[in-house]
Amino acid sequence: MSLFEVRGLRRVYRSSRQDVIALESLDLTVHAGQRLGIVGESGSGKSTLVRLMAALDRPTAGTVMFDGLPVTGVPERRLGFLRSRVQMVFQDPRGSLDPRMRARDIVAEPLVSPIVRRELGEFDRAQRVREVLDEVGLPPDAGDRYPHEFSGGQRQRIAIARALAPNPDVLIADEAVSALDVSVRAQVLNLLMRLVDDRGLTLIFVSHDLSVVRHLCPDAVVLQAGRIVEAGPTSALFSQPSHEYTARLVAAIPRFRSRL
Ligand SMILES: Nc1ncnc2c1ncn2[C@@H]1O[C@H](COP(=O)(O)OP(=O)(O)OP(=O)(O)O)[C@@H](O)[C@H]1O
Ligand SMILES: [Mg+2]
Repeated sequence: MSLFEVRGLRRVYRSSRQDVIALESLDLTVHAGQRLGIVGESGSGKSTLVRLMAALDRPTAGTVMFDGLPVTGVPERRLGFLRSRVQMVFQDPRGSLDPRMRARDIVAEPLVSPIVRRELGEFDRAQRVREVLDEVGLPPDAGDRYPHEFSGGQRQRIAIARALAPNPDVLIADEAVSALDVSVRAQVLNLLMRLVDDRGLTLIFVSHDLSVVRHLCPDAVVLQAGRIVEAGPTSALFSQPSHEYTARLVAAIPRFRSRL
């Protein structure tokens, strides 16, 4: 079953100096339960694409449908179905976690808006927060503390707990582990994979690091200058890239360079 249907998506950032075409005529289908990697060099439009899919931004043209319902051209008050079922984790937990809020309030953030509450029905909010903090491996007292009292990896666990709080179907991770040290990155990636497995989540994983995408995602699309230039099973993209740009991305991974 297709969960996301993206058709003819275009996003132009306009400024007085020049217009930037960040996405052009982009089509993409994401199926329920799929783990899809989105790769491409810096500035290729990865974040623009996932922000439009999560309705954090509006396209210049084109449509995004989620589970058969339009996401584009719809007022915020009618996006409760998307806000409860699609959650994002960003690269920089320092920037995405409010330093003045305790972890438990940060984690409860996606649960407080009226449009989300209407979708989710009755539940004990404090208990839900405790459950997800435990699920991401944080100690019981973590909820009382502020972001600066945690390590970088722990902060990203808080961001993941926040994403899990409304029991979403889809997790969109935009460079979610890129800012972490290598050893911490592996732990957080393992956590993500376990959660995706346990909860049967659909995963959209944005990364410029193809070796990470290769481990996590059976399928991937390659973005270049706002267009998808290649799509398919990740293993095939790696072993037989049909586009010269993909071949260059693969060749840029140190472990692969020797084989090419
Ligand atoms: N708010 C904005 N205003 C103007 N231009 C923007 C804005 N956001 C992104 N862009 C431009 O749009 C293009 C795509 O940017 P985007 O952030 O989607 O790329 P990306 O693939 O996520 O890059 P990175 O790997 O560096 O995160 C780039 O040329 C970027 O400079
Ligand atoms: Mg980006």
